[in-house]
Amino acid sequence: MALFEIRNLTFTYPEAKTPALQEVNVAIEQGEFIVICGKSGCGKTTLLRHFKTALTPYGTRSGEIRFLGDALEQVSVRTQASEIGYVLQSPDNQIVTDKVWHEMAFGLENLGYDQQTIRLRVAEMASFFGIQNWFAKNVEELSGGQKQLLNLASVMAMQPKVLVLDEPTSQLDPIAASEFLATIRKINLELGTTVIIIEHRLEEVFPMADKVLVLEEGRQILYDEPRQVGKALAGNDLFLAMPSPVQIYDGTGQVGTCPLTVCEGRNWLKAHFEKEQSGFCETENEKSTKGKDEVVIEAKEVWFRYEKEMPDVVKDLSLQVKKGELFCMLGGNGTGKSTTLSLIRNSKTLSRENPAERKGYSQAKGKRIVSWFDRGASAEPAKSFCGKHSP
Ligand SMILES: Nc1ncnc2c1ncn2[C@@H]1O[C@H](COP(=O)(O)OP(=O)(O)OP(=O)(O)O)[C@@H](O)[C@H]1O
Ligand SMILES: [Mg+2]
Repeated sequence: MALFEIRNLTFTYPEAKTPALQEVNVAIEQGEFIVICGKSGCGKTTLLRHFKTALTPYGTRSGEIRFLGDALEQVSVRTQASEIGYVLQSPDNQIVTDKVWHEMAFGLENLGYDQQTIRLRVAEMASFFGIQNWFAKNVEELSGGQKQLLNLASVMAMQPKVLVLDEPTSQLDPIAASEFLATIRKINLELGTTVIIIEHRLEEVFPMADKVLVLEEGRQILYDEPRQVGKALAGNDLFLAMPSPVQIYDGTGQVGTCPLTVCEGRNWLKAHFEKEQSGFCETENEKSTKGKDEVVIEAKEVWFRYEKEMPDVVKDLSLQVKKGELFCMLGGNGTGKSTTLSLIRNSKTLSRENPAERKGYSQAKGKRIVSWFDRGASAEPAKSFCGKHSP
């Protein structure tokens, strides 16, 4: 029996001219990993909210939604609360208590479990998610990634049959997002929990999926295994969001079985194109920046802190940006990306001549010099970037 069965679901928001969902037909089996994708506004969240009556939007609806064979509206609120776990986009919106341990116990307390069961479940989940080290912390001390993991652990403590997630990584940095998705995969594989997830990081979730549902303007255009969806989406705008191996597969004529991961892609290239290999070709970026060696921004051994007594935010940073280059800065939450950008932006005012305009401090940390060169369009001479504490 399917865990969820949606038959001919059509839904229209009040006063909307067109339905947000039209004739959606989906069967989700227990233990499956389902990815929902589509352009912004195509109805993904609207559909996801139909998986729990407490979250179902107000409007006109036809068709039916069955949970383990029963009409969802007939399934008690208590059963839905414990068996259908929901993780929202923003980690802060879901947290209701101030302590990590209390947050994990909160759902179970509401369901009326006894103390012994609550303690056991919370301990199990803390260990499964590696939360032991910050178990006693205040929730406000956690990073975005930790908060989202806490939401997940709190939901999983109720041992739901299905986990429903609406873009859970959209506010996490790339590393935290990757770790979070790996944890979702672990839950699916090790605990057998069904997963229904809306996610824009298709590169990562596509290979995890048993099935991918693609929506377009409220209609379901595909519901199939990821390899079939990858093949069928060629030519659609959404194809640009497909993982790189799928795009390469299509770009080379869809020979053999569609690869989903880098590893599969490598093996696939070896099997089908080894003889044709003739060294590396230039990327578009390499072509466009070729011969343009003019350095427009250069930073050398830059240190920066906002207050004298606070820790360094930028530590010994050196970089060079050449004219015409697309320069990308990556890093986890709070690693100093925005500070570095604002240092670059304000570098003309951050000079030795006018240190009064500086908001923060830079320190040499025993280094020879802290310098910041800006050789922008004005072609001014290089300026040094030194604060009160420079040598
Ligand atoms: N509360 C609401 N009232 C009226 N219309 C709504 C409401 N919520 C969403 N819509 C409309 O329903 C359609 C589908 O929206 P939905 O939020 O489900 O899309 P989505 O695929 O989740 O988009 P995104 O990728 O931006 O999150 C859109 O046209 C949207 O404007
Ligand atoms: Mg949405």
